Amino acid sequence: MPFQKLKPAVEKILSNDELSVDHRLEQICDLLKENIPYYDWVGFYFKNGDKEELKLRAFAGEPTDHTIIPFGKGICGQVAVSNENFVVPDVKTQTNYIACSINVRAEIVVPLFLNGENIGQIDIDSHTEDPFNIEDERFLEWVNEKVAEVLKSPST
Ligand code: SME
Repeated sequence: MPFQKLKPAVEKILSNDELSVDHRLEQICDLLKENIPYYDWVGFYFKNGDKEELKLRAFAGEPTDHTIIPFGKGICGQVAVSNENFVVPDVKTQTNYIACSINVRAEIVVPLFLNGENIGQIDIDSHTEDPFNIEDERFLEWVNEKVAEVLKSPST
């Protein structure tokens, strides 16, 4: 499904006040994984309280052992400190990389900002080599902006 068609579905999930925020994030992960063929694992990591580490909050795909990732470690940990998108067309080229599955060929991590602060990220693993382009980056930035709006709202 093209990104433009997924946007209303993302908004609908996020506006569902009857679900907890964690549950809404899980549904976003499921939606993206099920509708974008090369998204094989989708997860949201957030800063773990005051600690210099990320904690997995919601995901779709195979369970991972890497539910806690120190800042600076792996692609995710690097994005926690760089505040920038990280697109990896071929994970074999990365020395600072945490493997979650031997099937993963490529990864994209996009930081999530709340009031200008990098508080988390969306992480996508793909079994396809070099599948991500600028459209993925723009779409995932948009998803993160929408998630930040929900996190900002006092009712959550
Ligand atoms: N590959 C990531 C670790 C998280 S898993 O992809 C779910 C990394 O290098 O940070």
